[in-house]
Amino acid sequence: MNIIILLGPPGAGKGTVSEVLTKHGIKHVSTGDMLRKEIKNNTELGLRSHKKISQGLFANDDDVMTMVTEFLLNQKKENFIIFDGFPRTLIQAEKLDLLTKKSQIKIFNVLRLKCPEDVLISRLSGRRTCVVCGAVYHDIFSPPKIFGRCDIEGGSLAKRLDDEPVVIKRRLKIYNKLTKPLADYYKNKSMLVELDANCSPQEVREHTLKAYKDII
Ligand code: AP5
Repeated sequence: MNIIILLGPPGAGKGTVSEVLTKHGIKHVSTGDMLRKEIKNNTELGLRSHKKISQGLFANDDDVMTMVTEFLLNQKKENFIIFDGFPRTLIQAEKLDLLTKKSQIKIFNVLRLKCPEDVLISRLSGRRTCVVCGAVYHDIFSPPKIFGRCDIEGGSLAKRLDDEPVVIKRRLKIYNKLTKPLADYYKNKSMLVELDANCSPQEVREHTLKAYKDII
């Protein structure tokens, strides 16, 4: 099984650009989505993670590894996966490396989206998500056709709990402290490809698709 890792700060557009790769048969896996599902289902792991996520803190490494390992063990070996938001700490990266040594899982490449902090804040502050299907919009950059309603499902659009201004700032701070160092970790392994994400969603999708075709 091949894995592409998508690194990038909150709001860089990881979810938005992953869509383009799913059209090429790659499975999009977001640990943020997995955790939100656990929270919605009121599982023990979800209950443990809820407070942390709503405050902008990371879920426990052990909980994340449990979720990811279980997911990977249930995948067919021919699957190609893009991990959005995982690994997010050095501990997770090292544990993923261990998993790859013990199995047929291979990290194919690491794509890193780069974007200035003021742009990230404006993207996260205007994000709205469909409560039914999870489709993502932005008040200004990608508004729905009807205000407050999803174009696909007609569901109402809500702000994520962790998109409040104070929480956004904390998420960015934690990203800089715990996740940004992973860029060097993968650079030292000659796996890192950096992409400019400070442009329109269409342009970022094109950069991502080009990088994917180059590494394939
Ligand atoms: P997660 O859901 O992964 O959040 P995140 O990494 O903070 O990233 P976001 O989903 O906020 O942003 P994105 O880069 O996907 O941007 P998007 O495409 O939506 O994780 C949530 C939380 O779960 C974490 O904070 C943590 O607590 C926990 N967690 C998750 N994984 C974990 C792990 N491995 N370990 C521990 N804890 C974990 O775009 C954002 C907005 O901008 C949208 O409105 C979009 O329309 C707009 N937009 C996107 N691209 C552009 C563009 N190019 N131009 C203009 N607007 C754009």
